[in-house]
Amino acid sequence: MAALGRNLHDKAFDEGTLTKLELFRTYMRAWLRVFVDRKEILWPNINILDFFAGPGTDKCGNPGSPLVILEELSIHSETIRSKGLNLRCFFNERDLEKFALLDALVKAERQRNPPYHLETAKANFKEAFRSKLPALHAASSANLLFLDQTGIMQIDPETFRELISIKRSDFLFFISSSTIKRFGDQASFQKYVKLSKEEIASTPYLAFHRKILEWYKSLVPPGTQYYLAPFSIKKSSGTYGIIFGSGHPLGMEKFLTAAWQIDSMRGEANFDIDAEGIQPDQYDIFSGELPRPKKVELFERELSKKILEREIQTNRDMYFYTITSGFTPSHARKVFRELVQGKKVKKTPLLLRHDVGRGRNPITEIQTV
Ligand SMILES: C[S@@+](CC[C@H](N)C(=O)[O-])C[C@H]1O[C@@H](n2cnc3c(N)ncnc32)[C@H](O)[C@@H]1O
Repeated sequence: MAALGRNLHDKAFDEGTLTKLELFRTYMRAWLRVFVDRKEILWPNINILDFFAGPGTDKCGNPGSPLVILEELSIHSETIRSKGLNLRCFFNERDLEKFALLDALVKAERQRNPPYHLETAKANFKEAFRSKLPALHAASSANLLFLDQTGIMQIDPETFRELISIKRSDFLFFISSSTIKRFGDQASFQKYVKLSKEEIASTPYLAFHRKILEWYKSLVPPGTQYYLAPFSIKKSSGTYGIIFGSGHPLGMEKFLTAAWQIDSMRGEANFDIDAEGIQPDQYDIFSGELPRPKKVELFERELSKKILEREIQTNRDMYFYTITSGFTPSHARKVFRELVQGKKVKKTPLLLRHDVGRGRNPITEIQTV
């Protein structure tokens, strides 16, 4: 079986790895604001787990995920201390050489006496994951899991089902999608990701990570509201990606916001995933406008249509349609503004948030003219 990315730490991180880490950092920053900065602390036990931590940096000292976590946490030290939060970080790495470096890094951090607990382990992932399940499932905890596996095998269907069953938990896991494009029809791979020969053959390489997301979506039990989103990453050796998961719409919104921050064209890749060849500064000579990705045009058209045909009737409907389509509230507001300008809907305050219908955030009707 291909073991891609085995020597990730023997050289400088490549562009793809840097993008992955930037996405993780951007998401973690937003996540910490929700769980650490909010006035009313609902979840005093906060767990951040990096199950495939590596040594901490690449050969050139660029931060790997453990350092990203420590850097982002240090920004909140004072708040964590003053609120008395029980924040615990867990870093696991099976390779003994990498573990020694990781452990030294964490020990040095402990010397600074931070207001959070830092733990390291050198276990195999499955064992480390099992050992943390009681803490993850505890009623008073909120969890962020980073599962930066090598290849595809660790997040098997059983592990994925366990992940999505943990309440107040968000995860980002890495998967080498093109390994499945290459070998996925072999029986030994089918127990990890089950796609038919035809599906594998008919899905282009560049879009393959989207296909992988569909497979994981199919594992979510019917009737369970769970949010999953992809981010595709192209490296010289193939297409990889991150799968994000959260049981909460705010998690999904924050992830999508991070993804659109990194890919302002389509919000889901570090390359031109729809092979449209759009140059960001290339104005159309007839319209004088910037060319727009088809994905964005399609979303705007569909959302307008659904509003005008009354399939979407409220701000709440609009919010959930938007995030489950992979877009953010700011994309939806633009559509609403244009409908108002075109005198197709009435101008009304438009609150697009995950908690409309609760507290002081009313559900409002979108009134067509
Ligand atoms: C892609 S790298 C992770 C990189 C790390 N997140 C970073 O930013 O530097 C995957 C790491 O997981 C370790 N690993 C691979 N299989 C593992 C397993 N089954 N259990 C624990 N660690 C494993 C590898 O030694 C490697 O350091």
